[in-house]
Amino acid sequence: PQQASPVIRLRDYQPPAWRVESIELEVELDIDASEIVARLQLRRDPAQSLPLRLDGENLQLLSIALDGRALDAEAYRYDGCVLEIDGARDGSMLETRVRVRPAANTALEGLYLSGPRESGFLLTQCEAEGFRHITFFPDRPDVLSTYTVTLRADRARFPVLLAGGNPTGAGELEGGRHWARFVDPHPKPSYLFALVAGRLEHLARDYRTADGRAVQLKIWAEADAIGRCGYALDALERAMRWDEQRYGRNYDLDVFHVVATHDFNMGAMENKGLNIFNAKYLLADPDSTTDDEYRHVEAVVAHEYFHNWSGNRVTCRDWFQLSLKEGLTVFREQSFSADMNSAPLKRIEDVALLRRAQFPEDAGPLAHPVRPAQYSEINNFYTATVYEKGAELVRMLAGRLGADGFRRGMDLYFERNDGRAATLEDFLGALGEANGTDLLPYLAWYGQSGTPRLRAQGHHDAARREYTLKLGQHAPGNAGPSARTPLPIPVKLALFASDGRMLPLQLAGEATDAGSERVVVLEQAEQALVFTGVEAPPVPSLLRGFSAPVILECDYTPAELALLLAHDPDGFNRWEAGQLLAARAYENLRDGSTDTSLQAWCGALARLFADDGMDDALLADLLTPPGEIELAEREGAVDPGRIHQLRQALQRTLAERLGADALEQRYRTLAARRSIALDAASQASRRLSRRLLELLEACASERALPLAAAQYRDAPGMTDRLAALAVLARGQADEGERALADYRQRYAGNALALDKWFAVQAQLPGLAALPRVMRLEKDAAFTLHNPNRVQSLLGTFVRANPSGFHRADGAAYRFLTERLGELDALNPQVAARLATAFNGWQRLEPGRRALAQAAIAELAGRAGLSRNLGEIIGNVLNH
Ligand code: ARG
Ligand code: ZN
Repeated sequence: PQQASPVIRLRDYQPPAWRVESIELEVELDIDASEIVARLQLRRDPAQSLPLRLDGENLQLLSIALDGRALDAEAYRYDGCVLEIDGARDGSMLETRVRVRPAANTALEGLYLSGPRESGFLLTQCEAEGFRHITFFPDRPDVLSTYTVTLRADRARFPVLLAGGNPTGAGELEGGRHWARFVDPHPKPSYLFALVAGRLEHLARDYRTADGRAVQLKIWAEADAIGRCGYALDALERAMRWDEQRYGRNYDLDVFHVVATHDFNMGAMENKGLNIFNAKYLLADPDSTTDDEYRHVEAVVAHEYFHNWSGNRVTCRDWFQLSLKEGLTVFREQSFSADMNSAPLKRIEDVALLRRAQFPEDAGPLAHPVRPAQYSEINNFYTATVYEKGAELVRMLAGRLGADGFRRGMDLYFERNDGRAATLEDFLGALGEANGTDLLPYLAWYGQSGTPRLRAQGHHDAARREYTLKLGQHAPGNAGPSARTPLPIPVKLALFASDGRMLPLQLAGEATDAGSERVVVLEQAEQALVFTGVEAPPVPSLLRGFSAPVILECDYTPAELALLLAHDPDGFNRWEAGQLLAARAYENLRDGSTDTSLQAWCGALARLFADDGMDDALLADLLTPPGEIELAEREGAVDPGRIHQLRQALQRTLAERLGADALEQRYRTLAARRSIALDAASQASRRLSRRLLELLEACASERALPLAAAQYRDAPGMTDRLAALAVLARGQADEGERALADYRQRYAGNALALDKWFAVQAQLPGLAALPRVMRLEKDAAFTLHNPNRVQSLLGTFVRANPSGFHRADGAAYRFLTERLGELDALNPQVAARLATAFNGWQRLEPGRRALAQAAIAELAGRAGLSRNLGEIIGNVLNH
């Protein structure tokens, strides 16, 4: 069994006993050993009497001096985690000199090497607690300091030297070395520190902020990738303008650097003035980037930029408040993406992600509140709950206040908290006060886990011409102690007549007509709404735009859902009606039940398919039933193999109803106008063409495969090529292997394109997957050292291929625990994330459940697991 790691609790928060007003860093960079001198100007909290304690891990301490005098060995103690120092006073200056080993740093936290040692470059990753791997410091987000950073290195090996802040000087040194200095005038926490050094090229653009500051934007990448940075630079400029216009937020330094690396544990990082990106979210060109990936690049570039205010200027008091910056910034990013692209499609995409990633997380042993109460390893809490559910909570608040009210609230929040480390209470307080309303009841959302259920029941009284809608909420079983208080749940709703018209909404006792859509906030456990002047039983459209992150329970008839699917002008709810109907159709197939959902679903989609006015992209989404992971959420004893087969059968039924001829004809029409244009219409037609090809594959694969082969060959860009490759790979004939071999060779030098090659194969369903994955591990391009590669092969297999991973023989469970052991020794963050694939094991059918449990228990029993993996495995097993 694991030795228990210390648990950190929100309720134990204490302000820092020592702060650092300013820090001067001098870094001598080298691949194997870098040396860091840090001079800390210390401030002591007069109300506390704790000794000076600094965080520091994997640091070789070379020297230490206080107020200019070297310290005797008795005057300090270092246990490998904390350095405790005697004799410091308010106003003291501490100087430490340490050595770190970048090339040996496989955890990619702190200072490390990206790429081969001969040609790679050095960079840092500090959030959440990486700065302590660089120097001794109170490494917590409520210690804000100004940074002066001087970098020194060999000029030939490290021609480019970058750190956050404004450049204030650079020059030559003896022996072919050079230096560069950066000063960041904005006090910041240590997790926002960054440096980069190596051979990098850049793309630059002059930008002028709305408030008149000249800013140099520079995107940096290695020589082979700099040609793929143009799209990100454009996206950055769009994001900066948008934040000026929508939030009145201007950038605040003279330079803004963005760097791409292939070796990164997460998506990207908002370091002040020096964002660092996983190349996957920065590089883009038509030959190797899909439409979805283009949108991700735009969104992540914006996300990191937006952090400059929601995260950097206003940061978090402690890591329990992580969603204060992440939920808010995801919400800002989603709004931006909705403005740049199609708002309803963006909403569908976001809710689909929430259901695929967050709902299962919130229903299993790793469930936690958006503001967790405790953790042992904070890196395990960069989760879909903190990010995506957190964004939904901000969306509810924004909806409640309306556009102007939300802007007023955000202005006050930024003004009041600028330069501070804030809490969620500060956020809700500012939003509420600016609008003369109390939003603190929303805190309950932040404190409980699990997805709440909203029950809706309608009753029509013909004699009184009244429609009564009863709404009720109940907390899920795992909500925790605070779940007794009802949550405020905004329910946006409309009523439809049987001919598809929206009815005017007249609430009993209300004087004026409120139009045909309104938001009712359910604040009690139950509430009844009485609508008057309703002649016939209406069909309610509830939670329009997904107005609250809940699971709706409402007994719609298939005909009612088909009516919403045909007529609801709210694009999201239209899709939602289709999803509900599809899930019920799936149950028809599963249970052999006799209701008419399957016919209703196919019939409604056949009518939309024939309707020329439909948007291609929305149609593609409507033609896609809920994924296997979502379907599994609705089952008691999950058999992923059977879910896969039933979902296939569902698609086949739909495809047969639409007709192979009609599918092929429409596909050919779209194929005839293939291009690499990125406008909405072109993206939409690629999305639909892919969906049609897949449906044809489901009902007439002998017709789909030759079309896919031609598409693979003639594809003008990656979206079409990859779609065809996936169909061919599933076809498993020689043609599939030939296409895979062709792709492998064509993209041998392009890591991001190769990742997709691994991922496509890791998704092959059923028993074929594991042997394929094991074969691919032997490919020369596979390595456990690169997080993207691990994610593309192993991550895709264990998290996006339920029928492959959950083989009935349990072989993939043991395979995963074996890899987790190897990975944990190299990179605990990546290992811990991969291990979350075990999250749903308790809900598997008994055979698989026993096999999964045995594998997890065996892993949990191993000695020496990292705190990261140990916490995940412990929680998965014991909760
Ligand atoms: N703050 C970064 C972002 O959301 C992510 C950092 C993730 N860090 C981690 N340790 N997992 O933009
Ligand atoms: Zn973020």
